[in-house]
Amino acid sequence: MKILFLDQSGKPGGAELCLLDIAKPYADNSLVGLFADGDFRKLLETNHIPVEVLATQAIKVRKQSSLFQALASLGQLTPLINKVVTRAKEYDLIYANTQKALVVGALASFFARRPLVYHLHDILSTEHFSKTNLRVAITLINRFASLVIANSQASKTAFIQAGGKPDIVKVVYNGFETKNYQIPEIDVQNLRQKLGLAEKFIVGHFSRLSPWKGQHILINAIAECPENVTVILVGDALFGEDEYVQELYQKVTALGLENRVKFLGFRDDIPQLMTMCDLITHTSIAPEPFGRVIVEAMLCGKPVVAAKAGGAMELVEDGVNGFLVTPNNPQELAQVINTCVQEKDKIKKIANHAKITASQRFDVKIINQQIQQLLKREQRKN
Ligand code: UDP
Ligand code: GLC
Repeated sequence: MKILFLDQSGKPGGAELCLLDIAKPYADNSLVGLFADGDFRKLLETNHIPVEVLATQAIKVRKQSSLFQALASLGQLTPLINKVVTRAKEYDLIYANTQKALVVGALASFFARRPLVYHLHDILSTEHFSKTNLRVAITLINRFASLVIANSQASKTAFIQAGGKPDIVKVVYNGFETKNYQIPEIDVQNLRQKLGLAEKFIVGHFSRLSPWKGQHILINAIAECPENVTVILVGDALFGEDEYVQELYQKVTALGLENRVKFLGFRDDIPQLMTMCDLITHTSIAPEPFGRVIVEAMLCGKPVVAAKAGGAMELVEDGVNGFLVTPNNPQELAQVINTCVQEKDKIKKIANHAKITASQRFDVKIINQQIQQLLKREQRKN
């Protein structure tokens, strides 16, 4: 099947890393069209997936844009839409992976007469989006998409609650190449030494730096943990959240935690870094649509504590394969971290169990089969 995948981002966020795995089996005769250049393009090229940057100018609509801003951006989009329509005629199906890709993909699907599949990576609620963006997304999906692949039950439920058609949406979780998360012990010890963390209890946080990802909650929490507990914050501000980064640095200084919080920036050795940790935290203060980092922690055999909302609740069963805490509550998080410091054997059992179950549940081969079946059905319909 020839697929034109569309994604607005040049940067490798979770939705893009998910797309990388989905596009691989179709690499021979498909194309990923991006609306911005960046490291994601390079990553696709390294994986031998054909990619073209279709727009070089950034599209200026944000998650909280007003109707006026959204309409103003449409003019800006005309050359891009024309290009996508031309490309789309060479493919069987358009697969939009982000919201701006949905807007462009919907119009291209109409003009090029190609079916549109939308991979929904977001919880479509006012906690994440302006009312205008929600209305535009739901209207376009209902009118143009024949299939919506939701990354969790939580994303599916929010879609339907926002007015999305219930009969076109199917849940497919992110898939993972499980062998990539098996890291030799010697590499882990070396990395600990290199970072000067050999004797520490390392709490890891792996996410772009963004207010809703809640890194500040973890910083507040470790102020209430023993001296030996050290945090690594892995990730960068991918979408212009520089002010938040400054706030995080100020918080660390104000709490006197300079020696206990390390900012490592964006890294491409996540499995190694995760395996080095004693505990991995997820602290989003708005419902997480899925939460790749939670599954990745499990695949590395590491205990994970996640914020109890959205897709995270489908991944973690409290006390069985990880821990759940109330979002936006540093005291509760500190308590769980302290329990994990004291009960290393008990949490090891939980982490081992999580590794086994996650390896089966999120195996990329099985997930890709599910996607393939859905796409074949779409092709047959058209
Ligand atoms: N990630 C990465 N390098 C970093 C920080 C994060 O490669 O420095 C990856 C992480 O391993 C995960 C993805 O980025 O696969 C983030 O996906 P997630 O679903 O957790 O959150 P999102 O940012 O998509 O909302
Ligand atoms: C989005 C969501 C994240 C999810 C990822 C992959 O970036 O924010 O929760 O894990 O997509 O579906």
